[in-house]
Amino acid sequence: MKGYLLLDSSQTLLVVALANENKVVFDEVSYPAWQRQSERMVLEIDAILNKNNMDRLDLLGVVASKGPGSYTGVRISMTIAKTIAFALNVPLYLASSLEVLSVYDKPSICLSNARSKRSYMGVYHQGKCLKEDSIEENVDVLTYINEHPDYELCGDLSYLGFQAKEAGIAANLAKCIDDNHLCTEPLGAKPVYLKDNYDDGKFKTIVRKMLPSDLPAVAEIEKATFANPYTLDQLAYELNENPVSGMYVAVVDHEVVGFIDFMITFNSSTIVQIAVKEELRHKGIGNLLLGQMIKDCESKEDIVEFITLEVRESNLPARAFYKKHRFQEVTVKKQYYDDGEDAIYMVRSL
Ligand code: COA
Repeated sequence: MKGYLLLDSSQTLLVVALANENKVVFDEVSYPAWQRQSERMVLEIDAILNKNNMDRLDLLGVVASKGPGSYTGVRISMTIAKTIAFALNVPLYLASSLEVLSVYDKPSICLSNARSKRSYMGVYHQGKCLKEDSIEENVDVLTYINEHPDYELCGDLSYLGFQAKEAGIAANLAKCIDDNHLCTEPLGAKPVYLKDNYDDGKFKTIVRKMLPSDLPAVAEIEKATFANPYTLDQLAYELNENPVSGMYVAVVDHEVVGFIDFMITFNSSTIVQIAVKEELRHKGIGNLLLGQMIKDCESKEDIVEFITLEVRESNLPARAFYKKHRFQEVTVKKQYYDDGEDAIYMVRSL
């Protein structure tokens, strides 16, 4: 027997199912597997194929949800689906994780918890999208629900205090075996995380201590920003071995978008490096990173009296940023950089 493999782990449930050539689901497993999807999914795929006397070569295609939803969960089903589709050279179909929650025959407001009092929300009816997937404040979601009393509520809505209709995720995935959901470049397919809209300034930035797992992302920002970027090894040394260094990252929607690296020695501190991803500059992230550094300086037992730094003479945005933060241009260090450019030495007292 030939069939399609259907996968979803974008929410708390793990769904592994098989559909026949007519897109009808003939076997499925579905159970809560929060944070266990990665260990369970491949085992469940093998089990359901064995149970139906099917070999992987009997698969006609793979259908998976692509997000939005749990950051790791979305990546698990998509990575497994992409790998199988690529290895077997069969089509990959990708569906919105919200679309597969719908009750299909009725207009459905499909929701999942995006944390920080926000929801992922999409509205679907019979496979048609009535409202594109987006991140919404929960208060706006409640208003939308009130304005559409005839619409079904779908998803795990306990975080909003609602009970929702049970979704037929596997059946909905099977309905996505069509040209609209066909992924033409399976290896290039990316999960949909639905970043907040950066342009309207409505996004939440978290500043936290840098972790070893952040280093590749930080190295990428270094490389994209500076003429002589620190290598991964140099950054790892700063993070793991330099006893006087302080390193923080700014994170937006699970993505490292900026960092600060500084040193505190007795009564002075120095900014070694600060950078924010280009597309997110001038939105207050530099302020947050510098603010965290100042907080650290102020919490030291030894009184930290001033912060120093060197900045390229030509780097006018950074000079403006530091001036805004009450740094004063004290002197010029001639030919300070490898390429012969002068550095402006700036100091701010605390
Ligand atoms: N032009 C003029 N002023 C600027 C500016 C620019 N391009 N960028 C920032 N500022 C000033 C503004 O006064 C701004 O306040 P405002 O938004 O109320 O006007 C203030 O700095 C804070 O800006 P913020 O949005 O928090 O800064 P940022 O997130 O863009 O980060 C840098 C600032 C310097 C870290 C960022 O521009 C960057 O990554 N630059 C490339 C790397 C770099 O040069 N690092 C410094 C090496 S010494």
